[in-house]
Amino acid sequence: MPSRQRAQRQSSNHMEVALHHGRRFGRPLSYKLVHFLFVRRDMSCSVRQIIAADLSELANLHAALIPVPYPPSFFINLLIQSNYACLIAHDTSSASPDAPIAFISASIHKSNSITGSQKPHIQLLTLGVLPEYQHKGLARTLVQQVISTLHTSSDPTPPIYTHVCTTNTLAQSFYRSLGMTPFQSSRDSGPFIARNKYPSYSSRCRDDLVELFRSRDAYLLVGEVSV
Ligand SMILES: CC(C)(COP(=O)(O)OP(=O)(O)OC[C@H]1O[C@@H](n2cnc3c(N)ncnc32)[C@H](O)[C@@H]1OP(=O)(O)O)[C@@H](O)C(=O)NCCC(=O)NCCS
Repeated sequence: MPSRQRAQRQSSNHMEVALHHGRRFGRPLSYKLVHFLFVRRDMSCSVRQIIAADLSELANLHAALIPVPYPPSFFINLLIQSNYACLIAHDTSSASPDAPIAFISASIHKSNSITGSQKPHIQLLTLGVLPEYQHKGLARTLVQQVISTLHTSSDPTPPIYTHVCTTNTLAQSFYRSLGMTPFQSSRDSGPFIARNKYPSYSSRCRDDLVELFRSRDAYLLVGEVSV
């Protein structure tokens, strides 16, 4: 079979898998097909939800940017669970427009067992932007976009929370810029720390990224992010 025909058939198979999951979990047909274009003077990116064909590259990009070992089931859940969403970005103006450059994953929940809130909230699970694409507002756009993907009702946007390694000062600065602050269970207590949140690390990342994750503990950051 000619390679183009084979590629078309593969792509249509992957789309069928994605649509199958979409139907199975009661998502509207458009759920997996949303594309979002992010254009700046120096770059043009597309942002879309993942499909099955993205899982292997998504896992590789996680391994390159976050030295935390995520099992295959983590990525499959992002694809099939109806309360999860994962977006990836591509640089459509680059020489390799099919290679993902950034990702975000998140889930929406009816209540929060850590903070004790009985209201819905969104948990940001993973977020990463390749170093050459950082400081261009891409992570901020991904956070806003994943919130819009998960929160589709007209109710006010639910609060957001995420864990961030206590030594990852760069990510802490990023989340602070979004208005997220460390959770404290009472005014007098210090910031809540989730101990041993990252019991083991893998070392496929650059040394500077591994260094950011040298602690095994995490702060819980909470806030409201406008979209
Ligand atoms: C954290 C990370 C996702 C930020 O991505 P980004 O696309 O560069 O972030 P943005 O460009 O959207 O930044 C928005 C704001 O966050 C703040 N910020 C982002 N990176 C920062 C840094 N390295 N130092 C200080 N502030 C930073 C700034 O206020 C920035 O606004 P500005 O550019 O107008 O000053 C990226 O550095 C990354 O992938 N790090 C490695 C993986 C990681 O730590 N992930 C998070 C934990 S899972």
